[in-house]
Amino acid sequence: MLVIVRDEYESVSKTAAQLLAGKIRRKPNLVLGLATGSTPLGLYKELIRMHEEDDLDFSNVVTFNLDEYIGLPPEHDQSYYYFMKANLFDHININLSNVHVPKGMFGEIEINDLYVDPKIDEFCQWYENRISHFGGIDVQVLGIGSNGHIAFNEPGSSLGSRTRVKTLTKLTKVDNSRFFEKMEDVPRYAITMGIGTIMDAKEIIMLASGEGKADAVSASVEGPITAMCPASMLQIHRKSFTIIDTPAASKLAAEFVTYS
Ligand code: PGA
Repeated sequence: MLVIVRDEYESVSKTAAQLLAGKIRRKPNLVLGLATGSTPLGLYKELIRMHEEDDLDFSNVVTFNLDEYIGLPPEHDQSYYYFMKANLFDHININLSNVHVPKGMFGEIEINDLYVDPKIDEFCQWYENRISHFGGIDVQVLGIGSNGHIAFNEPGSSLGSRTRVKTLTKLTKVDNSRFFEKMEDVPRYAITMGIGTIMDAKEIIMLASGEGKADAVSASVEGPITAMCPASMLQIHRKSFTIIDTPAASKLAAEFVTYS
């Protein structure tokens, strides 16, 4: 794992964008795994700038997003499809038929913590097959939750899991409630790539910023590999980059590559 510590969020975003842009220029049909949340916003802004000013071409890039809330239609302003359009896809020359965000709406379905409607399972299998159809994900962008989750793989998730339904934990719902009017509006369930799906990506770039992520980053980079910190699995990935700012790195004991 290469841990790169930058002095501020903007440099984290620029470092990640330079890495990705290099990969897109070398392989124009790159299969790119994307994440939502506040952390990758700076990266997306920089990619948009590179598209506008440096001719970074997304016309053949294929994307797969990590997750989507169940119960929100794509036009809902808190759906992850909407987020991706508003913060990246609408501003670059990507072909929307190359874009994949898990589906959140399934018509009439039954779902509770013990039973998942087969319609959803079928979709999850389709998503996995679709990733394989494109030869797998070349590079996956990740954030990290304050509880160590990656995508919606909450603590306790199976380390070999594939795309499936997950029940969101209380902490994740509280973290995400800032985007909803009321706590009750935050969806209970999501479809998410599994930890196994993420680990199959040829390269992974995990980003984190701010002191609020320092404990999760330390558990992920220096803690034991455990399902209680899904991000700790990155320790055994063959090519992963953890790019973080100084506050997010503040609880790391070891010294890592630092650029100012
Ligand atoms: P954030 O979310 O980027 O909004 O902090 C990260 C995550 O929960 O994976």
